[in-house]
Amino acid sequence: MAYNLLKGKRGIIFGALDENSIAWKTALKVKQEGASFTLTNAPIALRMGKINELAGMCNAEVIAADATSEQDLHNLFTKSMEVLGGKLDFVLHSIGMSPNVRKDKAYGDLNYDWFQKTLDISGLSFHKVMQTAEKTDAMNEWGSIVALSYIAAQRTFPDYSDMAQAKSLLESIARSYGYRFGKLKKVRVNTISQSPTKTTAGTGISGFDVFYDYAQMMSPLGNASAEDCANYIVLMFSDYSRMVTMQNLMHDGGFSSTGITEELIERLTK
Ligand SMILES: NC(=O)c1ccc[n+]([C@@H]2O[C@H](COP(=O)([O-])OP(=O)(O)OC[C@H]3O[C@@H](n4cnc5c(N)ncnc54)[C@H](O)[C@@H]3O)[C@@H](O)[C@H]2O)c1
Repeated sequence: MAYNLLKGKRGIIFGALDENSIAWKTALKVKQEGASFTLTNAPIALRMGKINELAGMCNAEVIAADATSEQDLHNLFTKSMEVLGGKLDFVLHSIGMSPNVRKDKAYGDLNYDWFQKTLDISGLSFHKVMQTAEKTDAMNEWGSIVALSYIAAQRTFPDYSDMAQAKSLLESIARSYGYRFGKLKKVRVNTISQSPTKTTAGTGISGFDVFYDYAQMMSPLGNASAEDCANYIVLMFSDYSRMVTMQNLMHDGGFSSTGITEELIERLTK
């Protein structure tokens, strides 16, 4: 069901790789709700993924940008305003990658060049996106910027490795830039801390199936799906969340507030 919540709004959606991506599901919902946007991903992801399929469904232009490159981001923001015919009302940062996780490095044996890459791609890029948006004067007043996070920013999940530090950085940037952008242009900035979700980035973490099942058992509502997340993002881009900013919003079916559940007690009872 669509409600025209984003009628006339324009934006940029980062991170749609394939139909499982949270950004992919979000693009479809945002389109249904009446917005227009450009789609972007790293050049290599454009070659390997299926973004053109999505672009066809959403009538959206694809503009390549490595989110760590200020030059690419500058091009992306200026071109997006041209293509869409005006300034932007929303941006979704749905980007995550850790070479250490990908290569299964133990936390006591991290490659520090890769660690820097993890921080750059998954954390610092959020600052670069917003700094570029500010410098190109790309945001309309009362715009909304959202990035996706994970509870490993607050609590330890061993296999999440250096991504935990990247997510802490991401959430901290949301607060600092949220303050700045709020003062400057009434633009709100938030992170959404999403349940484990079966996507390329998610399932790339070893032990993912176990912590997916664990989170399912630990959440009174169960895990939030990628579609649920897309709906929440639509709400955060809509005018119904105008005064919410600088928050890390838990979107996890209650996981983060639950100590233990009957299911787990039953499972662990000898
Ligand atoms: N899947 C989960 O369990 C889960 C849970 C909580 C939060 N998240 C977060 O959701 C976001 C989206 O991930 P997803 O689960 O949809 O997986 P996904 O693999 O579909 O998306 C990750 C995206 O990041 C892009 N990316 C990587 N390096 C990039 C770069 N240098 N420049 C631009 N883009 C780059 C990839 O191409 C891909 O499109 C990530 O921030 C992820 O950490 C995922």
